[in-house]
Amino acid sequence: MGGIKALLTILCCLAQVMITHQNGQFIGASMSFTIINGTNGLEVQLDVISGWVLGKGPCGINCSRASINSNTEAARKEVFQKQGDSHFFGNWTVEIKTNGMKTSQVMDITQDVCSNIHESVVDVSEKARWEQVWTVVRYPMIKDAPYMDIAFEGLSWRPLSLQGENALWHLQMKAKPQLRSDTGKPNNSPQAFSKPFYRLLLDKENYIRIATIDPDGDHAACSLAEYIEAGIASRHPLPNITVTEDCIITIPSKRSLGYHNGSMGAVGISVRDYNVSGLTSGGRLEPFSTIGVQFLIQFLDNISEPSFIFPTPEGNHKFNIYSGTTWKIDVYAEPISPALIDHFSCLGRQHEDVKIINFKNTTVPNHANVMMATMTWTPLHSDVGNHIVCVGVEDSLG
Ligand SMILES: *[C@@H]1O[C@H](CO)[C@@H](O)[C@H](O)[C@H]1NC(C)=O
Ligand SMILES: *[C@@H]1O[C@H](CO)[C@@H](O)[C@H](O)[C@H]1NC(C)=O
Ligand SMILES: *[C@@H]1O[C@H](CO)[C@@H](O)[C@H](O)[C@H]1NC(C)=O
Ligand SMILES: *[C@@H]1O[C@H](CO)[C@@H](O)[C@H](O)[C@H]1NC(C)=O
Ligand SMILES: *[C@@H]1O[C@H](CO)[C@@H](O)[C@H](O)[C@H]1NC(C)=O
Ligand SMILES: *[C@@H]1O[C@H](CO)[C@@H](O)[C@H](O)[C@H]1NC(C)=O
Ligand SMILES: *[C@@H]1O[C@H](CO)[C@@H](O)[C@H](O)[C@H]1NC(C)=O
Ligand SMILES: *[C@@H]1O[C@H](CO)[C@@H](O)[C@H](O)[C@H]1NC(C)=O
Repeated sequence: MGGIKALLTILCCLAQVMITHQNGQFIGASMSFTIINGTNGLEVQLDVISGWVLGKGPCGINCSRASINSNTEAARKEVFQKQGDSHFFGNWTVEIKTNGMKTSQVMDITQDVCSNIHESVVDVSEKARWEQVWTVVRYPMIKDAPYMDIAFEGLSWRPLSLQGENALWHLQMKAKPQLRSDTGKPNNSPQAFSKPFYRLLLDKENYIRIATIDPDGDHAACSLAEYIEAGIASRHPLPNITVTEDCIITIPSKRSLGYHNGSMGAVGISVRDYNVSGLTSGGRLEPFSTIGVQFLIQFLDNISEPSFIFPTPEGNHKFNIYSGTTWKIDVYAEPISPALIDHFSCLGRQHEDVKIINFKNTTVPNHANVMMATMTWTPLHSDVGNHIVCVGVEDSLG
């Protein structure tokens, strides 16, 4: 009996260690904002899509695929109670400098943010051990401030062998309240969407493409985050990483550059929106706004991830559809033997109600064990606008 008692105590300790800061819980996020004309005047609506180590994020300790689409309110409360720390999922600050102020002022708005948060689970990978949540927060626009710098930071990134342990995460964006001459409203930021976690091969020229859109029709341009824009990810960027303006990231994962089997590294990208008509006039343009996108990469010398094959439409393919009509596309994926395709999952950036139907075996010449499915979505009138919808695939080995 004594043995059983001791074992129980150890399990208890493990459960606590699982959710302490030192272990790291964050694996990246993307942020964007829109300006809402609410009942109390103009408000900045922040949309944050963040990735966490499974069971350590706002989805809660029992997070699983069954949690997808659920609200995180109860799980967040429980973690805060256990931790006794309302900053466990990060600090929110706003930096402003109103016309009457000599220096800028930084305010901790974490309490305000956490008390009117709307958050739900977007996706979970039980095999790759991550969860992704979508957080919506509104904060009043400060009228006489020429700009508002909103930052989200906390402890800590999942251990990053390429950048260090217990690294602080930091995301920031800049909103300006001035009305635009074309829309008569303040600017909305560009929007970006990426998976929180990628696995890439060693000794290979790797490419990652981030989907971006801009609600005002501005030109969205990507670059590597600089200085402290993305915390550790911009102060210590991955060796020889580059990114093009249209958001294609290249990582030559050579061992000679310091990449090893199992290496983990964080990437920080900034996305800025520019005046389309201003672009032709030459010279250096001021962006309307800047947002951040961050994610985690693991480098491996052997990856057996399934892949999408033709005739699946290419990534970042744009479709135009009308509300009330149904959008449908077929997707095909091939596993790497001996694994089999387990499921497809849909990710709508704003929880678009995209469904996967007709999941079945199919034959495609020169490919083995191909599975296909149909993605379908019938947008409502209230959905008019830009959307980013992604599809993922997992095999029986994860
Ligand atoms: C998590 O699961 C355990 C065991 O099933 C249960 O006792 C606990 O109440 C659950 N916690 C939450 C937050 O659902
Ligand atoms: C978060 O804010 C609190 C209170 O302002 C501060 O004590 C703590 O050090 C901050 N943590 C981080 C990671 O910035
Ligand atoms: C916000 O709404 C109010 C009341 O409807 C209107 O008077 C005001 O012009 C609007 N502001 C903007 C920036 O659209
Ligand atoms: C890495 O970047 C350096 C400096 O730009 C360049 O000289 C070198 O060839 C690059 N190495 C690889 C493997 O791409
Ligand atoms: C490479 O790293 C992965 C993840 O840490 C590990 O599972 C695998 O065994 C490693 N492969 C070799 C050849 O060491
Ligand atoms: C964009 O640039 C054009 C040409 O320089 C200018 O006329 C227009 O006012 C600018 N639009 C905005 C929203 O700033
Ligand atoms: C890669 O993994 C697959 C399946 O796990 C295995 O069959 C293959 O031998 C591995 N290749 C290398 C180079 O390790
Ligand atoms: C697809 O085919 C494989 C092997 O032929 C079989 O094991 C599997 O159950 C089939 N899956 C579905 C969803 O029909």
